Amino acid sequence: MPDKDGMSIEEILAAARAEKGVGGDSDAPQDDAPQDDAPQDAEAAPAPAKPPGEMSVADIMAAARGGKAAPKAAAAPKKSAKASKSPAKAEAKPKPSAAQETSGPRDTSSVLAMARKQVKPGPISKAEAAAQGKPLPTGGGKPKLDVPPMPKRPDFAAKAAPAEARRGFLGSLAAVCFGSALAIGFSTFSLTNLLWVLGLARFMFPNILTEPPTRFKVGFPDGFSPGQVETKFKAQFGVWIVRAEYDGQTQIYALQSVCTHLGCTPNWLEAEQKFKCPCHGSGFYKDGVNFEGPAPRPLERFAIKLADDGQLEVDKSQKFQEELGQWRDAASFVPVA
Ligand code: FES
Repeated sequence: MPDKDGMSIEEILAAARAEKGVGGDSDAPQDDAPQDDAPQDAEAAPAPAKPPGEMSVADIMAAARGGKAAPKAAAAPKKSAKASKSPAKAEAKPKPSAAQETSGPRDTSSVLAMARKQVKPGPISKAEAAAQGKPLPTGGGKPKLDVPPMPKRPDFAAKAAPAEARRGFLGSLAAVCFGSALAIGFSTFSLTNLLWVLGLARFMFPNILTEPPTRFKVGFPDGFSPGQVETKFKAQFGVWIVRAEYDGQTQIYALQSVCTHLGCTPNWLEAEQKFKCPCHGSGFYKDGVNFEGPAPRPLERFAIKLADDGQLEVDKSQKFQEELGQWRDAASFVPVA
């Protein structure tokens, strides 16, 4: 019996007819077989009208059934059951090819047969193609491109490269140190801590008051003319040096530039030959005695004397008040001729 996978349509049909002729060899229906041969041949002849390659599964099955139609119609139901169980009929049933399975109408059996075969649609891999014996594609890659060489770097560009690299490095370093949010936060935290440490260190040291010395020299007695009021020491030392007569004697004395009313700083008015307080209008003579305004008493004197070098030396640590009779103290003035 031929292999059913390699059978052509004609062989399938011939096998079907032979099955029909041989399959009922045991019972009464076998007697009917010769009577049906003539019409079976007549009906089976037009079946392979199509070329074998173009026939679908339905065509093949119809052709196969056409060869058996007469015997089935003439035979009894019992014969048909036996015929369906015979191996000759099972072998005569053609196996559809792959082209036939994918074209034409399909019945349930053919679909189940395809599912059992696990036919994979679409492209297949090289391993699957090799397993199926199909030729593999050869030499299908992209052609290799001929890339021209890079142009030579000019001299000025070659010299500028290190500087650019250095700038790039410094720029990257600056970006790392100051650009990121983490670096900014860390720098701010460090600066704040530094300021706190400096403030604490300053707190640990006492404040130092830079006051002018209490003893200072104002020059030689001959440097002051009769009746002169020297004002150049007022801003720095708060004192006027006056050469004038007091109590019938020409003296050089030092007057404190502080109003005895509420402590304002009076001004020497050369044209009016008096000290005038700008706060409440108190007025003082050249010798320091008050004569107008709310000031209750004369200005105060500092101690003054001739130093070893012959200069006048003022000592602000000592004061003399006129209302207390202290101006008659020899330490409160330097007599001049
Ligand atoms: Fe000088 Fe009042 S403070 S007059």
